[in-house]
Amino acid sequence: MNSAPSGHVVVIGSGIAGLVTALALAPRPVTLVTLAGLGQGGSTALAQGGIAAALGAGDSPALHLADTLAAGDGLCDAARADTILRQAGEAIGFLERHGTRFDRDASGAAILGLEAAHSRRRILHAAGDGSGTEIVRALVAAVRGCASVTVQEGALVRRLLTRDGAVLGLLVQRAGGGAVLPARQVVMATGGIGGLYDATTNPVGNWGQGIMLAARAGAALADMEFVQFHPTALDVGQGRLPLISEAVRGEGAVLLNDRGERFMARHKGAELAPRDIVARAIHAERAAGRQVFLRAGREVDFPARFPAITALCHAAGIDPVRDPIPVRPAQHYHMGGIRTDTFGRSTVAGLWAVGECAATGLHGANRLASNSLLEAVVMGLNAARDIAASPALPVTAATIAEPPPDAYPSAARAIASRHLGILRDGASLRAAIAGLLLLTQGDDGAGDPAITALAIAVFATLRRESRGAHARTDFPARAALSASRAMTLDQIIQSARLILSDDLARSA
Ligand code: SIN
Repeated sequence: MNSAPSGHVVVIGSGIAGLVTALALAPRPVTLVTLAGLGQGGSTALAQGGIAAALGAGDSPALHLADTLAAGDGLCDAARADTILRQAGEAIGFLERHGTRFDRDASGAAILGLEAAHSRRRILHAAGDGSGTEIVRALVAAVRGCASVTVQEGALVRRLLTRDGAVLGLLVQRAGGGAVLPARQVVMATGGIGGLYDATTNPVGNWGQGIMLAARAGAALADMEFVQFHPTALDVGQGRLPLISEAVRGEGAVLLNDRGERFMARHKGAELAPRDIVARAIHAERAAGRQVFLRAGREVDFPARFPAITALCHAAGIDPVRDPIPVRPAQHYHMGGIRTDTFGRSTVAGLWAVGECAATGLHGANRLASNSLLEAVVMGLNAARDIAASPALPVTAATIAEPPPDAYPSAARAIASRHLGILRDGASLRAAIAGLLLLTQGDDGAGDPAITALAIAVFATLRRESRGAHARTDFPARAALSASRAMTLDQIIQSARLILSDDLARSA
């Protein structure tokens, strides 16, 4: 392991949030630690839709906020959401200054796409549906050219080391073994949790490592029950499924079942209803034994507007212009995560979190489409500003007794896929808690992923209502009083034990 300069900041993860944070910290020295190659292995490069920003004529941050709050179903932190959405212009400017080329018309104006639950066209995109790939290309090139950023690829962070509630360093594992990297300021930018589910649009290697690391270090987690399922992944098996962007429905595609019925016509907003509503409607069709298809809009030049999706369909033997595209819901995004403030600070001194692994309060119970890339950029900028304004503490030696066993997510995945899906109920959630709690107490590699999944199960059990992406068949209504919840790992484990002992008492 290379030694690090005193006062350096460690950024963990090289998706959009980590790359922006590292760049925005320049000239402060940054060590960027990433397991896969820079910009690879994360969800950013897979993003198709784009980045939401109220920059068009007739749009405003207030309208964007209203749509965000409506999608968030009463649980957004409105003040924080307002702050983040108002920084959209700054975020787009930062990306463009660092080389991102958004699609523009002949007059130079950004071409704005429409996605579900947005009242205006406000999605900036690049290369049609290649937005994430273009953003990653530009940011990776910028990071490679940034003298203050040292990149450590092939490095997996296994533990955060703390003393007296403050970060001291990280245990980093590489092919040659583990070593401690001392650091007093660490930014978690590790992305999502798709690897906890059988079917996901995320890379399957991401099972919430950052959430687990922060939780083990004592950080509070928030809104963990809110897992978003994208309605339209390409229905071609299990594991990571190709995404068929919501922008396809924004350009007129309709959903049909195998009887040719346009079942979304029964719902307000039809195909462009909020994502959770469309996902549950498709889930209901499939539960009734019917297949679901997307039929592309006739008005759009599909291969020109959606070249990446066209290629994905062709690879599966489907012509998206002529054939109905088979779709199914798949895990897509996690609204919950490491609780942070407006600057990305977690509840542990020296630990910031940005991007999908964080819970800022922007998304509430359900994320509005394309708000995530925006949040990742804005929070990367805000965290960098906050860190730059705080003193560069000298690094001190830190040690760890024994490296943990290699983590494997298959045991937690089986439980999460069965019990923590689109529809939940108390008995099923308690079964999940029993299984996951056992895994967290074992001494093998199943424990780390089980911590992330256990947190979802406990938060979901305690939320005795249906709201946003969290749907309980035993509590189908929204509760009159509802609030966002935050807990540390100790509190989560204590709650899990109480839930199970209540269960025992009831069945005795
Ligand atoms: C999509 O393109 O449908 C996904 C956009 C998002 O998840 O924000």
